[in-house]
Amino acid sequence: MTVGRDRAPGWAPARRRIEASAHFSGPDGPRPRLRKAIFTRLLDLFAWGLRLTPLHGRGVRNALDLRRAEFDVEVSGLPPSFDGYRILHVSDTHLDVLPDLVPAARRLLDGIEVDLLAVTGDVLGDHHAPVALSAGLLMDALRGVSVRGPRLAILGNHDSEAMADTLESLGFDLIINRSIVIERDGDRLGVTGLDDVNSFYTEAARQALGSSQEACRIALIHSAEMADHAAAAGYALYLAGHTHGGQICLPGGRPVFSTLTRCRHGAVGLWRHGEMIGYTNSGLGVAYPPVRFNCRGEVAIITLRRPR
Ligand SMILES: [Fe+2]
Repeated sequence: MTVGRDRAPGWAPARRRIEASAHFSGPDGPRPRLRKAIFTRLLDLFAWGLRLTPLHGRGVRNALDLRRAEFDVEVSGLPPSFDGYRILHVSDTHLDVLPDLVPAARRLLDGIEVDLLAVTGDVLGDHHAPVALSAGLLMDALRGVSVRGPRLAILGNHDSEAMADTLESLGFDLIINRSIVIERDGDRLGVTGLDDVNSFYTEAARQALGSSQEACRIALIHSAEMADHAAAAGYALYLAGHTHGGQICLPGGRPVFSTLTRCRHGAVGLWRHGEMIGYTNSGLGVAYPPVRFNCRGEVAIITLRRPR
């Protein structure tokens, strides 16, 4: 792997400015914090009411009932040496919210061997939880996984700038608004990671999509909201999370609400945007309230294949 700076120059001060400002930032401009605050209060009310019912216990049991999704993805332009390359894709762990997910995850993950680990953000759940607690629980969950190559991570909208240092200290390569190259038997695969674009978008994120000149490129972006830009920039594969698959869904898996403001076709599972294929992971963890209905949490093992 070609190593270099883990973050783009000037990223941290810009991130801290948005964290301290009165609004979030998305690809279409400022996003008022008030809207998210109202949504959070409504969820708190829902959670309070739910706790008074037997549905709460069932919802927590559902959240602990993780699945391991294993599937092949045909990647346009994939170099021959990467045919069969295995990626463990983990997202939205939020393990401070429901630590009992750690043993549930270990039952699915222990003994797994992969070439690349990709964590696509939202390691933190509760904004008041210690960053080190959430990151430590993630490391516990991953303890039984053997990763032959890089351990890559990006940040989500729940993660503060401090999470970058913490994950780095635990052995992750943070790719924030920059690109790296993975080399294998003389072949090259580009990987570009962006900071979260749902709440912490800056122009540097969009520019970073052009920072790799590799013929075959993967994008790691917390939400699918850059799908159009990534497809236009020629990315072959886009790995995301953020939506938790809806977390609370109607029978049949239809989410009650969407947390995507744009590119909503990338809300869950496999999707396409032009020539680019995307996968939106339903997340290992949960946001408050710590329940799932009609939507299982997951870890994904994605095997890259050359098109037949
Ligand atoms: Fe999340």
